[in-house]
Amino acid sequence: MTAAHLKASFVVVANRLSVDRVTEDDGSVSWRTAPGGLVTALEPVMRQRGGAWVGWHGASDEEVEPFEHEGYTIQPVPLSHSEVEEYYEGFSNATLWPLFHDSVAFPEFHREWWDAYVTVNQRFAEKTAEVAEDGATVWVQDYQLLLVPQLLREMRPDLRIGFFLHIPFPPVELFQQLPWRRQILEGMLGADLVGTQVPGGASNFLRLVRTRTQHKVERDRVRVEGSHTCVARAYPISIDSAGFEELANSPEVIAEAEALLDELGHPKQVFLGVDRLDYTKGLRQRVRAMGELFQEGKLDPADVVFFQVATPSRERVDEYRRLRDDIDLLVGRINSEVGGVGRPAIVYRHSSFPRSTMAALYRIADVMVVTPLRDGMNLVAKEYLACHPGEDGALVLSEFAGAARELRQAYMVNPYDLNGMKDVLLHAATDSPRNRRRRMRALKRQVRENTIEAWADRFIDDLGSLGREPRQQEA
Ligand code: ADP
Ligand code: G6P
Repeated sequence: MTAAHLKASFVVVANRLSVDRVTEDDGSVSWRTAPGGLVTALEPVMRQRGGAWVGWHGASDEEVEPFEHEGYTIQPVPLSHSEVEEYYEGFSNATLWPLFHDSVAFPEFHREWWDAYVTVNQRFAEKTAEVAEDGATVWVQDYQLLLVPQLLREMRPDLRIGFFLHIPFPPVELFQQLPWRRQILEGMLGADLVGTQVPGGASNFLRLVRTRTQHKVERDRVRVEGSHTCVARAYPISIDSAGFEELANSPEVIAEAEALLDELGHPKQVFLGVDRLDYTKGLRQRVRAMGELFQEGKLDPADVVFFQVATPSRERVDEYRRLRDDIDLLVGRINSEVGGVGRPAIVYRHSSFPRSTMAALYRIADVMVVTPLRDGMNLVAKEYLACHPGEDGALVLSEFAGAARELRQAYMVNPYDLNGMKDVLLHAATDSPRNRRRRMRALKRQVRENTIEAWADRFIDDLGSLGREPRQQEA
C-alpha cells in the first residue's frame, strides 16, 4: 500500500511540514528541514510516535504525493501562488502574527486575505478528515490554522481534536480589533483541548470567549452549545534536550566549535544571537545595545565578538524586508566605527545552518543573548542550555519571552530599555564564576527535566481524558 492510502490514528496538522521542498538552480529537487521552533519541537515527537503530518511543503503551485519520512507519513497540502500571498504572507503573517505579538508591527486587515484564510483552512481540514482513521487523535498547530478545529469537527465528530498555539494569545483589547474575532474564537472552540504556552494565554482566550460568545465558561472549561466541552490550559513547550546535548558533545561538533574559535581568532568572550530574522525578536535593539557597548569602550572588540546568525524568513513581507535592510545597515555602521583586529566586532550571518553548526555555536557562546520584544516561548534559549558544556555560561533573556516564566535564573532584560539591557549584558559577561555557575546549574536542570516528550505526553494524555468527558455526560 502507498502512503497515500494509509490512514493514521495520530495526525499532526501544521501549516508547514517538517521538511521544505526546494528546487535547486539545476532543476533538481531536494528536501530541507523547515525553519522555526514549531518544527524543531514537533519533529522528534513524530519520529517517536509515528502517524501522519499534514502540512504545506513550502513551494507554490505544486502538487506533491504523500511519502514516508523518518517513521511517519508526510501528507502535503498544496497552496497556489495567490494563496501563499493572501493566506500565508497576508492573513497569517501580516495580520495575525503582528496582532498576536502585541502589535509590535502594525497588523493589516484585508477582506481578501481573510477569504483566502478560510479557503485554505477548509482545505487543511478536508485533507485531515481524509487521512485520519476512525476515532483518531488530531493535533492542530498554530495561528495559521485557527479555523481547522471547528471545520474538522463538523466533518468528523468522531475525532479527538487538540489545538496548540505556539505564539502568544494576545490581550483581549488587541484581539478585539480583529473584524473576524467571533469566527476565530468559534474555530478554536472546535477543539476538545486548546493549549497555550503560558497560563496568561489560556486566560485571555477564556475571557474573550466569555465576553464575545454565548457559550458558558466555567473555570478552564467552555461548554460549546449542543456540541462538546473545550478546555483551555497552558502547556509550555520544550525541546529534545537529550538529543541536543548528545549532538553538542559529539566529536564532529566539538571539532567544528574549535574551528569556529580559530576562525574568530580565539576571542576572550563570545556573545551569541540566534534567531529567525523577525521583528519580534528584538534584533534592532540588541544590535544597538551591543554596538553602544563597543563604541563606548565597555567591550573591547579585540577581546569580544558578537556573533549573530539570522535565518531568512518571510522575505516577501514588507516588515521583514525593512528589518533585513535595517540590520544590514546597523551592523555595517557599527563595524566600520569600531575597529576590528582582522575580524569585525559583529560577525553577522544571514543564512540558515545545519543543526550541528548551531550546536557548535552554542558550545562556544559565553553569553547567549535572547531579547525578543514578544515571543510565545523561544526555543533558542533552551537549546543553548542543552548544548553549552559545563556550567560556565550565561543566558540573557527578555522578560517578554514565554521562556522567562520557566528560566527564572537567567539574566533578565527589558529589551525596550536600552541602557538597562546594556547593564545586564555587561553584568552577565563579568559576573563572578560562582554566580554564573549557580544560575547555569538551575537553568540546565530545568531544561533537562522538561523535555519535549513530557510536553507531548501531557497534552495528549489530557486530550485523551478530557475529550471523552462531555460525551459521557451527554449519554
Ligand atoms: P521561532 O519559532 O519564532 O523561529 P524559536 O526560538 O522558538 O523561534 O525557534 C527557532 C528555531 O530555529 C530554533 O530551533 C533554532 O535553532 C532555529 N534557528 C534559528 N536560527 C537558525 C539558523 N540561522 N540556522 C538554523 N537554524 C536556526
Ligand atoms: C514560528 C511559528 C511557526 C512557523 C515558524 C517559521 O515558530 O510559530 O508556526 O512555522 O515560526 O515560520 P514560517 O513562516 O517560515 O513557517
